[in-house]
Amino acid sequence: MQKWIMSGLITIACVMAVVLMFTLPGKEQVAEEEKPTMPEVTMDAAAAEAVVKAQGCISCHGDQLQGGVGPNLQKIGSQMSAEELYTIITKGRGGMPSFKDKLQKEEIANVAQWLAAKK
Ligand code: HEC
Repeated sequence: MQKWIMSGLITIACVMAVVLMFTLPGKEQVAEEEKPTMPEVTMDAAAAEAVVKAQGCISCHGDQLQGGVGPNLQKIGSQMSAEELYTIITKGRGGMPSFKDKLQKEEIANVAQWLAAKK
């Protein structure tokens, strides 16, 4: 009788393990959420400036990126890499909104590279 219960429990545990394996997000998926991969783009300063104006970055960061509600971004490239900037603009952080649903990945990557060049 006890053996039967044990093997029943083991079977249930195995089934649960298999189900969890398929339902839990994979490692890569989690990594992608935490640190989205920046697509490769050729930097286009005019396009970056247009996005920064059109998306209201300047309403928080100042029309010269001198800072306001958000921090000064005039020398942000000396503190952060394009990848780090891409992650912040994509996901947002604190009072900084996420632009994941407002901009194409390529547009964010272009702005990130443009900001990364500001040293
Ligand atoms: C609603 C106001 C607001 C808008 C709009 C906004 N930001 Fe921000 N941003 C902030 C705030 C506030 C922070 C500081 C976040 C923190 O303390 O973690 C920030 C932080 C940042 C940082 C990190 C700076 C640092 O020194 O850590 C970058 C880069 C940045 N914003 C870029 C942008 C870009 C590019 C846009 C437009 C696509 C944008 N922001 C739009 C408010 C804004």
